[in-house]
Amino acid sequence: MAPPKRNYLPLLLLSLITLFFILSHYFLSPPPSPSPSLSTPTHVSRNQTPQKFTFTVKVLGYDRLLSLSRCLRSLSAADYGGDTVNLHIFIDHFVPPPPSDVAPKLENSSKILDFVDGFRWDFGEKLVHYRTVNVGLQAQWLEAWWPSSDDEFVFVVEDDLEVSPLYYQFLKRLIENYYYNQSNFSPSIYGASLQRPRFVPGKHGNKMNLDSETRLFLYQLVGTWGQLLFPRPWKEFRRWYDDHKVRGLKPFLEGMVTNGWYKRMGERIWTPWFIKFIHSHGYFNIYTNFLHERALSVSHRDAGVNYKGSAGPDSQLLDRNSLDISRFEMQPLSKLRWYDFCFKEVVPGRVAKKLDEVGPILHSMGKQKPVLLVSLLKASERIVRNLICHFEKLDIQNYIFMVPGSKSDLLLDLARRGHPVIDMEGVFDSIIRRKTSSPDLIKDIMVKAYVVKKCLESGFDSWVVDWNILLLSNDFLLNSIDPKQEFYSGKGLGFFLARSSLSSCKIWGKFATNLESLVSEPSPSSEYGNFVDIVSKFSGRQGLKLTSLDGASFTLKLGSVGFNQTLPENTKMISWSPEAETDSVQNHLQELGIWIIDSDLSCKAVICRQS
Ligand SMILES: *[C@@H]1O[C@H](CO)[C@@H](O)[C@H](O)[C@H]1NC(C)=O
Ligand SMILES: *[C@@H]1O[C@H](CO)[C@@H](O)[C@H](O)[C@H]1NC(C)=O
Ligand SMILES: *[C@@H]1O[C@H](CO)[C@@H](O)[C@H](O)[C@H]1NC(C)=O
Repeated sequence: MAPPKRNYLPLLLLSLITLFFILSHYFLSPPPSPSPSLSTPTHVSRNQTPQKFTFTVKVLGYDRLLSLSRCLRSLSAADYGGDTVNLHIFIDHFVPPPPSDVAPKLENSSKILDFVDGFRWDFGEKLVHYRTVNVGLQAQWLEAWWPSSDDEFVFVVEDDLEVSPLYYQFLKRLIENYYYNQSNFSPSIYGASLQRPRFVPGKHGNKMNLDSETRLFLYQLVGTWGQLLFPRPWKEFRRWYDDHKVRGLKPFLEGMVTNGWYKRMGERIWTPWFIKFIHSHGYFNIYTNFLHERALSVSHRDAGVNYKGSAGPDSQLLDRNSLDISRFEMQPLSKLRWYDFCFKEVVPGRVAKKLDEVGPILHSMGKQKPVLLVSLLKASERIVRNLICHFEKLDIQNYIFMVPGSKSDLLLDLARRGHPVIDMEGVFDSIIRRKTSSPDLIKDIMVKAYVVKKCLESGFDSWVVDWNILLLSNDFLLNSIDPKQEFYSGKGLGFFLARSSLSSCKIWGKFATNLESLVSEPSPSSEYGNFVDIVSKFSGRQGLKLTSLDGASFTLKLGSVGFNQTLPENTKMISWSPEAETDSVQNHLQELGIWIIDSDLSCKAVICRQS
C-alpha cells in the first residue's frame, strides 16, 4: 500500500490524534474485511454498533466532472476512525445528442470514468456502476440500494454536494443513539438528513422557527443533500413504490408544493413518491440545527438537472474548528420535537392507559376549545382514517380517541402518528379497581363518564360522540350552544355535550360515581342503549338537567338521501347506524364528496395553518 495521499496532509497537521489513525490505518492495511474498529475512534466514546453494521456511501453522478471530483475528495478527507466504509459510484449515461455532438459527450464521459477509476478509496470497497442509458434521478436514487440486512446503512450524496470531514463520525453516533439504542429507537424514523433544514413543502405552512437550544429534531421531509437511510423503511418504500407504480397510481398530494413539481417533472424526479409514502406511513427524518447557516453537508447547487444556472453553496460547511463531535449532545428521543410537512408540531405517544394519564393529554391541548371525545367501539378503520382527515380539514385539534382493547394495533398506530388515544380497557380497570367481566358497552359508558369528568375538572367543555358521526363544520362545535345550559344530549344522534363550570363539575362528579352501579347490575347491556340513552335515563333520578338538542335540522342521516344527491346546505353533521356496512357508508360518503382518503387510507391533501 502506498503512503498517505497528498490530501491527508492538512489533517496530519491538524491533530496528532488524526496522525495516529492515519498511521495505524497505514500499518494495519489492507483492511477491507468488515471488522468494525478494533481501535476506538477518537470522537466516539464507546462503540455500540454490532459486528454486522455496514456503512456505504452512494454517490449519484452524471456529467459533471468538477462537481463529482469535489464531492469524492470531501468524502475521502473525512474521518472514518478505522471503520470500513464502502463507496458506490453511480454514473448516469448522457442523453443521446444529435450525431454531430456525440464526440464531445463521449469524451466527457471518458474523463469522468478515468477519474473515478483513478480515485483511491482506502476505507472499504469501491464500486463503479456506469449506466448504459440515461435513467434520470428517480432510478438513480431508487436503484441505488436494496438493503440486504437491518444492519446495513446507506448515505446518499448527489455529485454537487460537499461533506464535512466530521460527517461520518456524526452519522455513526446518530445510528448508535437512535437506531441501536433501544430506548431511543422509533419505528417512525427513516433516516437523517445532514443538509441545513430550510424548506417547508406544505402550502401556507409555518416558518421554521427553531430555538437556539434545538440541535436535533424530527421532520417529515426528506433531505436530498446528504441523506442517511435506514434499511427497513427504505425497503418498505421500494415495495410500496412498486405496488403503486405498476397499478398506475400517481403520488399526488394536494396542498404540497411538491405536487406542482410532480405535475411539471413527473417521473424525472423521485421526491414526490417518497414524500407521498412518508405522508401515508407517518414517518420522520432526523435533522440538525447547527445555527448560523451551518451544516455537515452542503449543496453547491451546480447547473444540471435541478438548477439551470449554478446557484452556489446553500450553507457553510462545519469543520473540526467549528464543531467538536465528541461533545455534541445526542439528546434522548423523548426530548426531541417532531414536525409534520406544515412544520406544525406533532406529539406522538400520547396514550392514557389509566385514568390519571388523561390529565397530561388534556394538558397538551389548546385550552379555549372543547374536547371532542370519540369512541371507536366497533369502528371500522377506514371510517376512522377518513374522520381524521376531516379533523385536519376543519382544524379540529382537541380530539381524543377511545380505543377498545380489541383494536390495540390501531391504538398504537394512532398514537405513533400523534393522535391522542385512551386505552379503554386500561382506563376502565383503573376506575373500577377490581376484576369484572363487564361487556364492552358498559366499559365504553363508564370511561366516557370519567373522561368527561376529567375534562370538566380541567376546564374543558366536552363533546362525546361515536365514530359513526361525521362533523362538517367546526364553528358548530364552538358556538351553537346556549351558554346558560350545562348538559345537552342529541338523542337518536348519539352525541352529548357538557359545559365546564363549578356546578357542572360537581353534578357530573356525583353522576359518574353513581353510574358505577351499572357495573354490578346483572341486566344485559343491550337494555341500556348507548351513552346518551344511559345519561338520559339516569339524569332524572340524579338531578342532572339535560337539554335536548334537536338535531333534525342540521343532521343528515346517511341513507336518507339517495345516491348522487347534494348535501342540504345547513348540514352540520352526518350520522349513520353503527351496524351499517362499511362499503355502503364509504360509497355514500364518496357520492357526497366527503370521502377524502386514498387507497392507502391516507388523507388526499395536506392542509396547513399558521400556528
Ligand atoms: C464537457 O465537460 C465540460 C466541463 O465539465 C463542459 O463545460 C462541457 O459543456 C461538456 N461538454 C458536453 C458536450 O457536455
Ligand atoms: C440509551 O439511551 C438512553 C436515553 O438517552 C441513555 O440513558 C443510555 O445511556 C443509552 N444507552 C447506551 C448504551 O448508550
Ligand atoms: C352517481 O353518479 C356517477 C357519475 O356521475 C355514476 O357513475 C354512479 O353510478 C352514480 N351512482 C348511482 C348509485 O346512481
